[in-house]
Amino acid sequence: MSHISQDQGIGEHVDFLTKFHNISNKLKKRFLRKPNVSEACEQFNALATECEQKELWQYAGLCWLAAARCQGTLENASSEINLLIKAGRQFLIAEKKDNDIGCPSIGQENIQAAVSCFGHSMARCSNQPGFNTISAGLSVELALALGPGPAGIQQLRKAIDIFPTSKAINTLVSFHISQGDYVAALQILNEFVEFAEACVVAGARGNYNAILHRCEVTRVLLLLILQPSPQRLTPSLAQVLEKYAWAEENVNNSLNMSEDELLLLQSLVLACQSHDHQAVLELESEFQRRKMTGDWRTIFVTGGAGYIGSHCIVELLECGYDVVAIDNFANSVTETDGKSAALKRVEQITGKKVTFYNCDLLDKEKLESIFNKHKIDCVIHFAAIKAVGESMQVPLHYYRNNIIGAINLLEVMKAAGCFQLVFSSSCTVYGEPTELPITEEHETGNITNVYGRTKYFIEEMLKDISRAEKSWNIISLRYFNPVGAHSSGLIGEDPTKPFTNLMPYIAQVALRHKSELVIFGGDYPTNDGTGVRDYIHVMDLAAGHVAALNALHKQHLKLKIYNLGTGNGVTVLELIKTFEKITGTTVPYVIKERREGDIVSMYANTDLAKKELGWTAKYNVEQM
Ligand SMILES: NC(=O)c1ccc[n+]([C@@H]2O[C@H](COP(=O)([O-])OP(=O)(O)OC[C@H]3O[C@@H](n4cnc5c(N)ncnc54)[C@H](O)[C@@H]3O)[C@@H](O)[C@H]2O)c1
Repeated sequence: MSHISQDQGIGEHVDFLTKFHNISNKLKKRFLRKPNVSEACEQFNALATECEQKELWQYAGLCWLAAARCQGTLENASSEINLLIKAGRQFLIAEKKDNDIGCPSIGQENIQAAVSCFGHSMARCSNQPGFNTISAGLSVELALALGPGPAGIQQLRKAIDIFPTSKAINTLVSFHISQGDYVAALQILNEFVEFAEACVVAGARGNYNAILHRCEVTRVLLLLILQPSPQRLTPSLAQVLEKYAWAEENVNNSLNMSEDELLLLQSLVLACQSHDHQAVLELESEFQRRKMTGDWRTIFVTGGAGYIGSHCIVELLECGYDVVAIDNFANSVTETDGKSAALKRVEQITGKKVTFYNCDLLDKEKLESIFNKHKIDCVIHFAAIKAVGESMQVPLHYYRNNIIGAINLLEVMKAAGCFQLVFSSSCTVYGEPTELPITEEHETGNITNVYGRTKYFIEEMLKDISRAEKSWNIISLRYFNPVGAHSSGLIGEDPTKPFTNLMPYIAQVALRHKSELVIFGGDYPTNDGTGVRDYIHVMDLAAGHVAALNALHKQHLKLKIYNLGTGNGVTVLELIKTFEKITGTTVPYVIKERREGDIVSMYANTDLAKKELGWTAKYNVEQM
């Protein structure tokens, strides 16, 4: 072990060593007695937690590592991986704390231990779902701990080889820039732009435009610093500069830059080319003021532990945002440590951390304290209770939770000076459609249930505040029928209340957890007599939220409303048939009388989201 810090008494170390030895002894083979690995593992876990509480980070690391070995012996791969990661993180904290007090460990033993723990966990999870994102995330975590030297750069290169996330690329670029190696930084950006452009051409999902936009700005700045001679400039890089080298209005703006941004880049390129140092200095401070190279970072997500919230957080983290999430677990699963089960898996999928608070929107004081702790750039408001049938039985509960909750949130946002909001609305606000497909212009308010009315009232409230106060910048997204789950299979719809949505219900019947599916109404004027809906994959919805964030970031929209659907109507029977075909199962069903208040057909016109957000759904019904 390395040094003993001043604020930890020798007694605690002796105490720890004795306990550690006593547990280790349980693992020794004795004549006529098998080692009790499970018991030892539990005791190592308890000792690790105790060490964490006493801030004995290195010891905590050793205990998690010992517990991981026990899980390895017991062949519990996922627990072993999680414990190895925990151990690695404790060693990293130990290293940081030692450095903070000016007493680094000898031979960087904590860093070496962390590298070894993360390395083993990567090797173990190589055949697990979500492996590459976890491994890439761990390499980035190590790189950030190692800093911008050769070891940190090596880890980032490894991360990018496994899975090139924008966080890894950006960190690598900034490491090279901080080392003064602008050529290497530019080279990485070039490679990444080529890769991202190929992804866009191949129709890949994800927010490549926002990433390419950031790369473009950084590439222009690097080229201005490097000033390569025309002979050394590749044709594609020459094009990057050329675009901004003329004071023209019709610049190719495929990356959807704002007018201000384009103008600023043009002015900077022209100022550099004409060696106007004074102008460059002034433009530099303008750049910093607008933080053109640093985007919004922190997104506050209400209802983040829920179905759509957790999927959206995956997309946000992968796009490089930091997330602060809250939930009161009214309809999501909490673990014994008070954290969200879904968000832990989100961390596993992305290899990134989510800051989480168990907070009810009705607890305004707590909400305020969270806003005071973080600098929030934008809010995505998912939290709501959503069971249509229940809402008719306990309307006041629905009005209090959904409407008072929204008012509290808006008031706290305003007090904190945060006016950017994406709101989860629903196609229920349209009521029975008078024309199909439904556009955003369709009349709203003729709604037959309390849940839908809460969405309608909140939308009306958003219209009022955005009319009254110019600072608000809001997008309301009217979702059609969300289905599906993240491809890792680690998260999905996991409510604490009974399922009310059709797709999880079908899955429950197929698994024989329920005997049959009841279809209400088989004589509607549709292809096969059953109701028509527009089913949209939850990861498409998540991408829609990132597109909405980009739109809010680029322009001041006051309030805009968009449909998020596929534009295709599918009947209940068609959905069942597709499910049976894809999964090779059967879904027994009965058709009963129509239900009062049920809508016959509902599907979206999604042209506006395509035109203004640059977003369309990618998944079809077979892929859901
Ligand atoms: N799933 C759908 O079919 C659908 C369709 C259209 C719109 N929406 C809307 O999308 C949003 C997310 O829906 P979902 O399907 O993920 O639902 P969900 O129930 O899985 O998630 C909502 C989350 O909000 C939390 N919550 C509820 N009240 C809260 C409060 N007062 N304070 C803090 N947290 C609270 C719940 O615990 C839950 O985790 C909701 O606003 C819903 O109305 C959903």
